Amino acid sequence: RPERDVTDTALTLDQHLLHAARETGLDTDLVILLNSIATACKAISASLRDGALAGVLGSHGSQNVQGETQKKLDVIANDIFLEHCAHSGVLACMVSEELDEVQEIPARFARGRYVLFFDPLDGSSNIDVNVSVGSIFSILRLEDVPETTDYATVLRAGVEQVAAGYALYGPSTMLMLSTGDGVRGFTLDTGLGEFRLTHDDIAIPAAAGEFAINASRAQWWEPPVRRYVEECVQGESGPRGKTFNMRWVASMVAEVHRILIRGGVFLYPMDEKNRTQGGKLRLFYEANPMAFLVEQAGGAASTGRTRIMEVEPDQPHQRVPVILGARDEVALIDGYHAEFD
Ligand code: AHG
Ligand code: MN
Ligand code: MN
Ligand code: MN
Repeated sequence: RPERDVTDTALTLDQHLLHAARETGLDTDLVILLNSIATACKAISASLRDGALAGVLGSHGSQNVQGETQKKLDVIANDIFLEHCAHSGVLACMVSEELDEVQEIPARFARGRYVLFFDPLDGSSNIDVNVSVGSIFSILRLEDVPETTDYATVLRAGVEQVAAGYALYGPSTMLMLSTGDGVRGFTLDTGLGEFRLTHDDIAIPAAAGEFAINASRAQWWEPPVRRYVEECVQGESGPRGKTFNMRWVASMVAEVHRILIRGGVFLYPMDEKNRTQGGKLRLFYEANPMAFLVEQAGGAASTGRTRIMEVEPDQPHQRVPVILGARDEVALIDGYHAEFD
């Protein structure tokens, strides 16, 4: 058996966060919140694993505020987030894809300065076909514990995020996290019941050889998006001079994870069909947290016309076009939008 240095043991997420609190001054209230979120993600992971045996697949029969039919697991995952985060003592309020209004903290619990935005189950159309799904979260810190938690309190641009991340429920469960000093990946050690640091120094290469877009919407694309994709698929004989690969999982978490691990670019652009809604993906709990992670990994995230994290919000469920990943690729697509406008 080869000699093993005991100091090589992968830190648990909690060990990592506690070290960061001591060594870099990471706010301990944020550590408490991240611990609660990680616990929620472990609980969701557990409730997903038994699938049809546990009777958790299929539709819940209800609709959320954006008119989507909720899956049973959308509702279960939302309840799990609320249950594990409400009592943290550090939250001012929460905003979820599955809740119409800002979620107040029950009076029996202490309140704090943090606001948590979450997409409890991302990619829920993939649940019944047993394809990877995830949970996404974004965290803001207010100056003070607010008296009220109306929309004015929570509607801040993404540049104000202090942490963001997601859990990916794939062949293994992973938690990817940034607190503003790069992106780290933690893999769920199912024996220990803990996330453990397995991916350090995540970096997205500036150039890409892979793009992701729902091509069934080509009929409604704007010219800059059409031009970009057409040039990619022309391959070696086209203006890009190389062959691009294409992927579409339909779980944003899985697409962003692929980009953080091996590079590429992801587009859910504004098109003729979704223009009146401003796009498809939601700013607070899909676009902003993923933009934060991607920028922290050296990539870029844009609407095609604006840096996503600089979009000034006006409502908690607002949608935005999303183009993110490899820096040079996003710059090229932004350039095509500028030429077109
Ligand atoms: P959600 O399941 O949280 O509603 O999000 C689904 C999102 C996102 O994960 C994915 O990128 C996109 O919707 C898929 O859209 P299409 O069905 O148009 O492919
Ligand atoms: Mn949904
Ligand atoms: Mn989603
Ligand atoms: Mn969702």
